Amino acid sequence: MGNLTYTRLIAIDAEHPDPETIQLAAEQVQKGGLVAFPTETVYGLGANALDASAIGKIYSAKGRPSNNPLIAHIATLEQIEQVAVDIPETAYQLAAYFWPGPLTLVLPRHERVPDVASAGRDTVAVRFPAHPVARALIKAAGVPIVAPSANRFTRPSATTAQHVLADLNGRVDIILDGGPTHIGVESTVLDLTAPTPIVLRPGGVTLEALQTVLPEILAPAQHVPMDDAEARPASPGMLIKHYSPNAEVLVFDGEAEAVTRRMRETASQRMADGQRVGLLLTDEDRPAFADLPVVVQPLGAAHDLAHIAQQLFAGLRALDAQQVDVILARQFPAEGMGRAIADRLLRAAEGRVIEVE
Ligand code: TXA
Ligand code: MG
Repeated sequence: MGNLTYTRLIAIDAEHPDPETIQLAAEQVQKGGLVAFPTETVYGLGANALDASAIGKIYSAKGRPSNNPLIAHIATLEQIEQVAVDIPETAYQLAAYFWPGPLTLVLPRHERVPDVASAGRDTVAVRFPAHPVARALIKAAGVPIVAPSANRFTRPSATTAQHVLADLNGRVDIILDGGPTHIGVESTVLDLTAPTPIVLRPGGVTLEALQTVLPEILAPAQHVPMDDAEARPASPGMLIKHYSPNAEVLVFDGEAEAVTRRMRETASQRMADGQRVGLLLTDEDRPAFADLPVVVQPLGAAHDLAHIAQQLFAGLRALDAQQVDVILARQFPAEGMGRAIADRLLRAAEGRVIEVE
């Protein structure tokens, strides 16, 4: 565990960030400190991307293994050349559509980006976030900012400043509180150094949207189990245990009615065993469970995937706060934003997706 520091939580207007507050946070970054800040996806835990010792603090604050590389955040398109080299034309084509926004591009790494930022790889992940606070902070700092999601390793990502504080109090110098984030799941990570561009992590930009610009882009590959020590995943962040609340998570997939029946049976069994049961439910699913003495965390309407994505991590954390032993959820179809939601549920469940006949 690293040295403890005093964490300052400072409120900031998400649309019109106060320049003095930004300046204070930027100076903390320049001094080699850690600043947590909102992006349009989730909160990030930021440090100067060109300062190896500051970057080292990120890994210890998160308890993150040092083989998991970080994303370098930039505030202008031109800044891409400060962190990457041999940038393919496709990067600029995608940037024209999706930047600023929730898309991260893996590119050949510029030598001035320290090894630790990229966990020793010769590539670097680059993102130009859209959030006014993130953009103002990177601009004021005058350097690219590396930032993983601002949660402790394997925990659900933080979508509010309170989540950041709960995980990282005493481990980060400043938290800029710009309110809840809009997208709620992390950026899509796209590897442009692979022979054919491939999505390493589904996220805020859908595969379908990416393919309208570059039709050859490949869908994310199968996950790699955490206990497979030999495996070297293309993206080490894609471990199967990830986004986990303290409670056990069980995800059910299959025909709608059959899934409802199985979820009810499982809830009843667990309650009979003396467990406290939490359910993550869409509005459409709620009536089918209304008679059960369970803790329900509503996700909103099933068709409103943007809203569900926004609520997902907060919902997992809210059920933890209610001290449930187990969380049951229905799997989402892996299409559009559903792909990122299904991926996060799968990882929250550490791969325990129950296929219902
Ligand atoms: O939305 C987001 O991307 C947020 C906000 C703060 O920008 N950041 C975020 O960072 O989610 P993090 O560190 O939690 O996830 C970064 C992901 C991991 O899966 C990591 O393995 C992958 O990007 N990644 C980073 N650099 C990479 C590289 N050079 N090659 C392949 N994958 C990389
Ligand atoms: Mg993360």
